[in-house]
Amino acid sequence: MKKKITFLGIETSCDETAAAIVRENDKGTADILSNIVSSQISEHKKFGGVVPELAARAHLENIDYIINSALEKSKITLEDIDGVAATAGPGLIVCLTIGLNIGKSIATFTNKPFIGVNHLEGHALSPGLETNIKFPYLLLLISGGHSQFLIVKDVNKYEQLGTTIDDALGEAFDKTAKMLDLGYPGGPSIEKFSILGNEKIFKLPEPIINKAGCNLSFAGLKTAVLRESKKINSDKMKYDLAASFQNTINKILYKKTKIAVEMFKKKTRSIETNLVVAGGVAANKSIRKNLNNLSNEMKFKTVYPSIKFCGDNAAMIAWAGIKRFNQNLLDENNVIAKSRWPLDEKAPFMKGPGLKL
Ligand code: KG4
Ligand code: ZN
Repeated sequence: MKKKITFLGIETSCDETAAAIVRENDKGTADILSNIVSSQISEHKKFGGVVPELAARAHLENIDYIINSALEKSKITLEDIDGVAATAGPGLIVCLTIGLNIGKSIATFTNKPFIGVNHLEGHALSPGLETNIKFPYLLLLISGGHSQFLIVKDVNKYEQLGTTIDDALGEAFDKTAKMLDLGYPGGPSIEKFSILGNEKIFKLPEPIINKAGCNLSFAGLKTAVLRESKKINSDKMKYDLAASFQNTINKILYKKTKIAVEMFKKKTRSIETNLVVAGGVAANKSIRKNLNNLSNEMKFKTVYPSIKFCGDNAAMIAWAGIKRFNQNLLDENNVIAKSRWPLDEKAPFMKGPGLKL
């Protein structure tokens, strides 16, 4: 029987310092021997967003402790692992460098293979930690920095069907929460307060809803929220605007996911369609309910990682490392951090002025 591979994963691409020990199991999924995430929310709260230098300093202060905690909790030693995986991009260079360098050092000193993981591949493969899901599947990746529809054909093989042409969805949530003074991070607070509001009160735009295939756009919606937020004079109105924003996001995702599912079916000719929704925003229960309605209507299956694997974590990085190791996709120890690193290198760059749709 093939040996079950165990990896140490390290994640420091943004504002979470994380380490995890993950092992393959007989079910084709993962045993999470440990999964330690130290969030820097309190550090960035007063600035209403992530401050790169502060984030980097916090990673530096915490990373040794977090890796040691992950090893201790897993009850194994570095001797027992088969390799080390650390996020190499995309993200903040000053932050990525910290986890990447410590990962490379551990791999060198223990003489183990090293893999520099694409953070987006970590999210893309994250449902595999708990669910044995077959390729190809359709991925809606919604996080603080990215919003994309992709066909996940295999490990390392992605085809982008659509992407945001301006803001990422998590960014739209964070900025809306900031404009409404609902706290940081914005996604969870919009989710919480929108339950208290009436989603029908504010009419907000659904940018590029009837054009550009399954590409997405949230900048115009954000501007409309800013305009409407000036009219607010009570908490009730604030909650109504949060609810209207959440409802508009749901309408956009419903329509665009429908288009993406049709594209996926046409391109892959798969008998069954599995839609994986991953990334920090996939934790949003209203979005899950909305996409479940679409899946009932169109008869496809939805797969969501557990909430703890939606936001940034190192278990998904270790898992991507294991998957790449099994396909012999190893890296040299000279991998450098990359701020931009698309999963589908051939996909056109969609952001910027003068974009023709
Ligand atoms: O994947 P992630 O942890 O980090 C990136 O790779 O960017 O995603 C973070 C984003 C933030 O914008 C945060 O506000 C959003 O995910 N988020 C949510 C929820 N929880 C986190 N957005 C909407 N609803 C939520 N419950
Ligand atoms: Zn992420």
